[in-house]
Amino acid sequence: MHPCNMASGSASGGKRSTVFPRHSSCCNLSLMNLDIIGWSPSGAVRFLDQTLLPRQEVHREVHSIDDMIEAIKALRVRGAPLIGISAAMGLAAAAARQAADGGLNVAWFDEAAGRMAQARPTAVNLVWAVNRMRHVAAQAFADATDQAAVARALRLEAQRIWDEDAEMCRAMGDAGAALIPQGATVLTHCNAGALATGGIGTAVAALYTAHEQGKGIKVVSTETRPLRQGARLTAWELSKAGVPVTSIVDSAAASVMARKAIDLVITGADRIAANGDVANKIGTYALAVLANVHDIPFYVAAPRSTFDLSLASGATIPIEERSAAEVDAAPGAAVHNPAFDVTPAEIIAAIVTDRGVVRPPYQESIRRLFD
Ligand code: MRU
Repeated sequence: MHPCNMASGSASGGKRSTVFPRHSSCCNLSLMNLDIIGWSPSGAVRFLDQTLLPRQEVHREVHSIDDMIEAIKALRVRGAPLIGISAAMGLAAAAARQAADGGLNVAWFDEAAGRMAQARPTAVNLVWAVNRMRHVAAQAFADATDQAAVARALRLEAQRIWDEDAEMCRAMGDAGAALIPQGATVLTHCNAGALATGGIGTAVAALYTAHEQGKGIKVVSTETRPLRQGARLTAWELSKAGVPVTSIVDSAAASVMARKAIDLVITGADRIAANGDVANKIGTYALAVLANVHDIPFYVAAPRSTFDLSLASGATIPIEERSAAEVDAAPGAAVHNPAFDVTPAEIIAAIVTDRGVVRPPYQESIRRLFD
């Protein structure tokens, strides 16, 4: 287990209550109590309902596969790494309940994992985490003497997925902060922060770390229509951490860049193909184009769990189409509401990973990352 998660409990039954981990020898970011996800004493998954932020901080508990799928689909839990962590924890919690009722078997788990993997299509971290749970389940069903032992193995793996993500966030924070000059103003899109991960974020981890290093950075957070993750979530968590943040509407990005008010752009990712094409929140591609036109470096930050080497390019990344109800359009108008877009590798200056920064040509640098 990552030592940072030990402070308030883990697989043994507690919840991790700080988003900025507490372990002083490896983590010294200021303490914050965002209480994003954890285990409840009853064994359920307890999470902060992100649809209600920033106005209300409401926690919900889910025990069943259906409830966790609903939470993922509705974006109560969201962000590529946190979707994977939530799915793994949801499978573990539901399996424990199933074992208590005497019904945890291979058929039940296969069906549950299959449905969980389809909760949302774009972030590959979901399938990645479910596959890890499948692997552990297969081993445990083969080895274990009783259903409770299978459930324990699943919970340990879910906790490992979470702990490893916290560790990867820390590493991306260090690698990403090195790209941020003293006094820089950094634009970020959507939410790739603590609210999207099991630790301090991906892109936003670089911002927290640079802030903590005393670089005196400022952050510009785009609103991120239609669900406003930038204005509601990124601005919320950065403000809580004391990082100076200014929200802009999405359509202000070009003029802000033209005024030379931005030194670099950094975003997260939901899936990265073998050639370095990046799927991320809708609007990311437009920001990358704008950054390139204005000679501003455009960076992406993502852990290795976000890479999908089975896809040669971004052309085949599945793009989630969300409900028309999310778009404020006149009745009678047709609505097209893609939740993600694909930024071509050619306009990405570098990708920050938990194993350091990879640069073009991405085909080779990404292959080396996984060697
Ligand atoms: O639809 P969401 O809110 O889940 O989209 C989230 C994003 O696009 C994030 O930028 C991405 O998952 C990176 S998270 C570290």
